[in-house]
Amino acid sequence: MRPITKVICIGLVFFMSTFLASFEAPGTAPVKGSRGMVVSVDSYATRVGLDILKRGGNAVDAAVAVGLALAVTYPAAGNIGGGGFMMIRMPDTGESIALDFREKAPGRATPDMYLDGKGRVVRNRSYFGHLAVGVPGTVRGFEAALKKYGCLDWKEVMMPAVRLAEEGFQLSAARAESFNRLKKRFKGNREFFKVFSKADGSSFKAGDVFTQPDLGRSLRILADEGPDAFYKGEIADMIVADMQKHGGLISREDLNLYRAREREPVFGSYRGFEIISMPPPSSGGSILIEMLNILEGYRLDRMERTAADTLHLMGEIMKFAYLDRARFMGDADFEEIPVKKLISKAHAREIREKIDLNRAAPSAKIGEDILVLDEAAETTHYSVIDKSGLAVATTYTLNGGFGSGVVAEGTGILLNNEMADFNMKPGYTNETGLIGTAPNTIRPHKRMLSSMCPTFVVKDGWIWLITGSPGGRTIINTVFCVIVQMIDFKLDVQAAVDAPRMHHPWMPDILGMEKGDIPEKTFTMLKSMGHDVRNIAGGQGDAHSIWIDPATGAYHGAADKRSQGTAAGY
Ligand code: DON
Repeated sequence: MRPITKVICIGLVFFMSTFLASFEAPGTAPVKGSRGMVVSVDSYATRVGLDILKRGGNAVDAAVAVGLALAVTYPAAGNIGGGGFMMIRMPDTGESIALDFREKAPGRATPDMYLDGKGRVVRNRSYFGHLAVGVPGTVRGFEAALKKYGCLDWKEVMMPAVRLAEEGFQLSAARAESFNRLKKRFKGNREFFKVFSKADGSSFKAGDVFTQPDLGRSLRILADEGPDAFYKGEIADMIVADMQKHGGLISREDLNLYRAREREPVFGSYRGFEIISMPPPSSGGSILIEMLNILEGYRLDRMERTAADTLHLMGEIMKFAYLDRARFMGDADFEEIPVKKLISKAHAREIREKIDLNRAAPSAKIGEDILVLDEAAETTHYSVIDKSGLAVATTYTLNGGFGSGVVAEGTGILLNNEMADFNMKPGYTNETGLIGTAPNTIRPHKRMLSSMCPTFVVKDGWIWLITGSPGGRTIINTVFCVIVQMIDFKLDVQAAVDAPRMHHPWMPDILGMEKGDIPEKTFTMLKSMGHDVRNIAGGQGDAHSIWIDPATGAYHGAADKRSQGTAAGY
């Protein structure tokens, strides 16, 4: 072989192996990389992030670009009309930042805005249409992240999303199917179906190229004019005009006033690992740390991963911690939230004393009269790390799938239905699942309580795991399960993400379980211990995670097989 041919062959083999290693199918082994890793629910968005890293952008640039791309390619949850949280960790100083771009109640919102004349909750009003929409935070959040922690400029990170909207992208079978299912849910919503239907009225199918001209135009305006276009300029005008036309509350002033907030994360420790996560207005980080603190007092190394006593213990911990969530959590800018107490080891000791290792405690008995509201199902989490070790965990959402269904006329921008995360009826709690505790009652400009918890686990000062998940209230339990599978049961990141999950929300008093490799006798035993065990048929959460091998520094990306997620590294 001539030397030049040999070089080309070696190069080709190297390139192919890198390519194959980088885009391995999820569900088997994690995807490996040493210079960068992106894991998200969508292959287009993951590639956008990886391209940014390869072009010299850092993890924050990539995370913002992924978030913007998901607003186009995963419109069920990806958004610029919603909100969320981004955790950023500096590799050199170990400093972590919790960026809060959660939606807020409009200035004209009132505590009883979802009640009818007889004081009954009108659920549809908080889920669909203009009254369900909170003041969006995503654009301000991405702006704040990029300005302070990114190195590329706004337009550069926006352009991949602009192109995906204008030129379109190919629908996967799952995405086509999810669009087809919308026909009934948003029936009669003209502006919505201007985006989510085909001109000839036929159904979407896999391989269709899906373009979004209105959204493309809005994104181009944002790319050219900057984030102010959304809050003060042309896009703000269109959103406000649409609100006025349809009886929504969001005003120009609400948009003008919106600010993303940098907050001090909540910090905890678990068996020698540091846990860094999201503080209020999310309940996620505090309740996660509370649960880990309680679990730390038990010898899990002497227990089996799928045995009934293990799962009973985890279920009881969830139940007690979620009771605290219902009682205490809300927006700390408005309410006194006892975060310090909740994440203390002393509080964990008190709860351990209440847990019976052989018998399920009835939720009604431990929490007397408080019940919690069902939550909608669509959000997304993604994880990014770059070659310097800068780590980013982002969970953001429209709340329900495709949010409120409101597309502000002419913008192509889907707006959230995050107002449904507030307590609907102050002071009133009943058996249908309403909760009326004060900390999460609606007030003008207040942020609604969330469960989202983008989280870092750190070992000996080095980033060890980047994780998070969608799933409404199940989010905190999903993240808890992933961390416990890795730290206590020594599963690798992909196996931990794939492992069956469980959920006890305190109320309703039901222990939800994914089946996976859990033996039938475990379920039988759990029932005999007093649990109302139900199968989580559709799967719980979608925890796209990255583990950083402390021995080699290599990045291991694990896409969650419950969705069509993709990990890609280099
Ligand atoms: O902030 C929250 O906790 C909810 N709005 C999240 C909703 C959600 O995760 C639905 N997802 N699958």
